[in-house]
Amino acid sequence: MNNLETKNVIITGCNGLIGRQICNLLSDNKINIFGIDLEDKNTDLSKFCEFYCCDLTFERGVNSVVENIYKKVDNIDCFIHLAGIDYKVQEKNKKLNFNLDQNSISSPGIVMKSLSANVSMVYNMIYSLLPKFLNQSYSRIVLIGSVYGSYSPNPKLYKTENSKYFYQKPIEYSLSKSIFPALTKYLCAHYANQGLVINNVEPHAIIDNPDKTFLENFKELSPMERICKSSEIADLIKYLVLSKCFYLNGETIRVDGGWTVA
Ligand SMILES: NC(=O)c1ccc[n+]([C@@H]2O[C@H](COP(=O)([O-])OP(=O)(O)OC[C@H]3O[C@@H](n4cnc5c(N)ncnc54)[C@H](O)[C@@H]3O)[C@@H](O)[C@H]2O)c1
Repeated sequence: MNNLETKNVIITGCNGLIGRQICNLLSDNKINIFGIDLEDKNTDLSKFCEFYCCDLTFERGVNSVVENIYKKVDNIDCFIHLAGIDYKVQEKNKKLNFNLDQNSISSPGIVMKSLSANVSMVYNMIYSLLPKFLNQSYSRIVLIGSVYGSYSPNPKLYKTENSKYFYQKPIEYSLSKSIFPALTKYLCAHYANQGLVINNVEPHAIIDNPDKTFLENFKELSPMERICKSSEIADLIKYLVLSKCFYLNGETIRVDGGWTVA
């Protein structure tokens, strides 16, 4: 694999909460970053990466961006996938897809639309990159799933003092993230012998402006009694990009402060 100075990394969802943190951290380590997102909302992003605007749900657009990146460099050492439709608790004032107090879950139409978007984003990228990755001696993929891909969100996290629910993480989020461990295992089993190292990170609770009730509930339910810092997840991803431990492969790594062991 190339040395630290010449590593090339693609990051999807580079304009998101975790994406910005990772771009910042990796660019400090002299890594060429090719960032992809729907739009460049963050004016500082160009300081850290070469930005490509793309809706990753469209296969042709993805292929074209990947081809353009490969015109600039001969190889990509690592692909980090962060893009996704997240359902943040602080955005709870947006119309909820379902309301637990009314014993309802999201409609099939909403679930299928969300699933299709989230699955196509990661799949289009992998489909486009894989042949190129398998032509290199080594390549790495770091997927960012969610704890809620392996464990259910706890509804009690979103309960007010008067026992009403103020939010729920929608079922389509869990279903979308549940494919990440399977995708990781499949690609590892089939392509590790061709130099592919792929792992899935499952973060939990990285939030910009957390709601007070949410924070109180979180403290009560979490062994560490606090939410995760975006720098903590970025640090692990940096390790997965730079580590010489290639034998860590096919794993789903949960970063949840003990949330799922209690
Ligand atoms: N923040 C958390 O607590 C947390 C916890 C577990 C998992 N995750 C997952 O980690 C990933 C990153 O989290 P985040 O907090 O930075 O989320 P975020 O919503 O801040 O960032 C996601 C980014 O993906 C981009 N995106 C969405 N649809 C796209 C599309 N069709 N094409 C291209 N880009 C698209 C968005 O524009 C956004 O910049 C997400 O997939 C999220 O579900 C986050």
